[in-house]
Amino acid sequence: MTVIELPEVKESKEVWNSSLILKGDSRQVVKELPNDFYSCCVTSPPYWGKRDYGYDTQIGAEFEINDYINHLVSIFRDIRKKLKEDGTLWLNLGDSYTSGNRTWRAEDKKNPARGMTYRPPTPSGLKPKDLIGVPWKVAFALQEDGWYLRSDIIWYKPNCQPESVKDRPTQSHEYIFLFSKSEKYYYDSVSIKEPAIEKGKLRNKRTVWQVNTEPFPEAHFATFPEELVKPIILASTKPDQFVLDPFFGAGTVGVVSKRLNRKFHGIELKNEYLEIAKKRINNVRQTTAFPYS
Ligand SMILES: C[S@@+](CC[C@H](N)C(=O)[O-])C[C@H]1O[C@@H](n2cnc3c(N)ncnc32)[C@H](O)[C@@H]1O
Repeated sequence: MTVIELPEVKESKEVWNSSLILKGDSRQVVKELPNDFYSCCVTSPPYWGKRDYGYDTQIGAEFEINDYINHLVSIFRDIRKKLKEDGTLWLNLGDSYTSGNRTWRAEDKKNPARGMTYRPPTPSGLKPKDLIGVPWKVAFALQEDGWYLRSDIIWYKPNCQPESVKDRPTQSHEYIFLFSKSEKYYYDSVSIKEPAIEKGKLRNKRTVWQVNTEPFPEAHFATFPEELVKPIILASTKPDQFVLDPFFGAGTVGVVSKRLNRKFHGIELKNEYLEIAKKRINNVRQTTAFPYS
């Protein structure tokens, strides 16, 4: 598994033909990627105000929600140029509640990155305890910026984190938005059919996907479960085509791409996570028969 940094990329254009982890800030690295190249982008950016990754340029730590939204719109605008005309973007986002103007959150023993040295203020127009609707705010901003918003998929997590709330249901879902660059795009519905109610029959995949979260204690953030990424890559790429993840983390998109004989480019800022991703991907055996189960 090759890890490279920006200056090397600029020198040798051949590098693009293999799977890579690119070290750096995705806001800069994305601009150097080849145009009209990727069949899809699958990613989960840091959520707004939820994690402290411990570096100044982190996305998700903006004080104002509109700055967070604008940062994402601008990265995905650059990514649109890098997708093929028939390419798609699959964006995973979870929602947040307003902090009620608390300025910090205590460290959680199981999950140190949930400790926050800052909490963003309540966005104007909202009240303490309001659900913010971050995923939809981002989705509408991307739609306005030219993306075709094609589907909102509910990722239902039966084993979600318990919450100590008594005045609302426990949050057990996140969103995955499917966007396309053009009106017509590549989408192989047959490869991801699901069992129908009638025994032995298959039907078109629905918009609620039930997938358990997979604990990954080495990473201080939630990683994608492989089962969530698998249908996305099957539906939106053919073997040997390229998948992009600009917030690579522990590299689940790379793991699933390799299993399915696809190629990938992942961008990650933190060395610690790059190393985890590299190790995980090196341990993956490529399947010759797929879809793997
Ligand atoms: C939610 S995690 C992604 C997890 C990933 N989907 C997985 O399965 O492991 C978000 C990642 O984005 C990285 N990140 C945050 N801001 C970044 C930036 N500006 N450039 C590159 N990576 C960034 C964080 O370090 C973190 O690893």
